[in-house]
Amino acid sequence: MYLQRLSLRDFRNYGQADLELRPGVTVFVGRNGQGKTNFVEALFLLASGKSHRIATNTALIKKDASSGIVRATVVAHDRALTCEWELNRDNPDRLQLNGNAAKAGDFARSLSVVMFAPEDVSLVRGEPALRRTHIDDVASWLFPRLRGTLADYERTLKQRNTLLKSLRAHSRATVDTGTLDVWDENVVRLGAEIFAARTATVTLLAPYVTSRYRSIAGAEHDPEMHVASSVESVDQDPEDYARLFAEQLGLNRAADVERGQTSVGPHRDDITFTLNGLPAKGYASHGETWSFVLALRLAELDVKRREGPTGDPIVILDDVFAELDATRRELLSHSLQGVEQVLVTAAVRDDVPSSMSAHLTMISSGSIVSEGEE
Ligand SMILES: Nc1ncnc2c1ncn2[C@@H]1O[C@H](COP(=O)(O)OP(=O)(O)OP(=O)(O)O)[C@@H](O)[C@H]1O
Ligand SMILES: [Mg+2]
Repeated sequence: MYLQRLSLRDFRNYGQADLELRPGVTVFVGRNGQGKTNFVEALFLLASGKSHRIATNTALIKKDASSGIVRATVVAHDRALTCEWELNRDNPDRLQLNGNAAKAGDFARSLSVVMFAPEDVSLVRGEPALRRTHIDDVASWLFPRLRGTLADYERTLKQRNTLLKSLRAHSRATVDTGTLDVWDENVVRLGAEIFAARTATVTLLAPYVTSRYRSIAGAEHDPEMHVASSVESVDQDPEDYARLFAEQLGLNRAADVERGQTSVGPHRDDITFTLNGLPAKGYASHGETWSFVLALRLAELDVKRREGPTGDPIVILDDVFAELDATRRELLSHSLQGVEQVLVTAAVRDDVPSSMSAHLTMISSGSIVSEGEE
């Protein structure tokens, strides 16, 4: 698929912007802080329901404006689709798909995007929550029902933790723990669904991660990824998971009441990445970390390409070439040959390999100032 048109109104530092795009590579060039990332962030917002940089959407609305609009027309298999997101500071946001009211999740399957960004190093080096979010994002794209399950799990977990705290505050003996049993059942049921989706997603991604990593760093390397569940002794069987999870919630109940927190469950899982038998986090070098990150994103591209109804996802490279050495730049550019559309941002055109022949768009102070072929 490709992005044919993107229109912005009062989005980030843009007042009004409207750009027609075409398949192939487009490089957005401009000095720091001009609005290159903001432009591609708008497309990412539509595709994923959130920004890749911040958790709250209000920062996306232009300073002093009360609302902003992002509208994208994408074309897949000769069919055009228009997604629109009106961001409101004081009212609920309004979303439309081809003019009909829609929800954030409705765009996800029809607007497929894979974004590479400098922040991605945190996938390897950062906290488990970032890896969980990454796998949950891919899993939710594969199994759209999962978004709701994740939200339900989070809500149920909060309710369970609130109850744990009140059990701690009151004398435990006088409080009916029957309610806790009900929360436990819900947490286990939802948790088992999350575990199954994560396991299936990691199983799908893993062979692509291996082959992409080897094509970047050499055939002698052995990268692996798997779900490291906080539920002990768990294998891949979801039923087995539910039984063990329930058992361990029971065993930990007194300690959980003491801490006012749930000590086991999908919210405490990690996705471990290993390289040649060693954990990538804490062991991998700078270059190895980037190779891993590129392999993860390229694997996401492979899976979305194979499993999606819309052909190639749109690939966004936000400032990544500046992070890579010359060899990795060429490898990445080579790996993306043939992808229907690639949108690249760069402060300097020379950071983008010259082998990537591109349409150039200059961005300055929240405006598209010029376009042209090289
Ligand atoms: N809600 C907002 N209203 C107005 N301006 C904003 C808003 N959010 C961000 N900005 C401005 O947008 C600019 C950042 O734009 P962006 O991140 O797209 O830069 P960039 O061109 O990608 O730069 P770099 O090359 O450094 O990555 C900053 O000057 C920031 O202050
Ligand atoms: Mg940027």
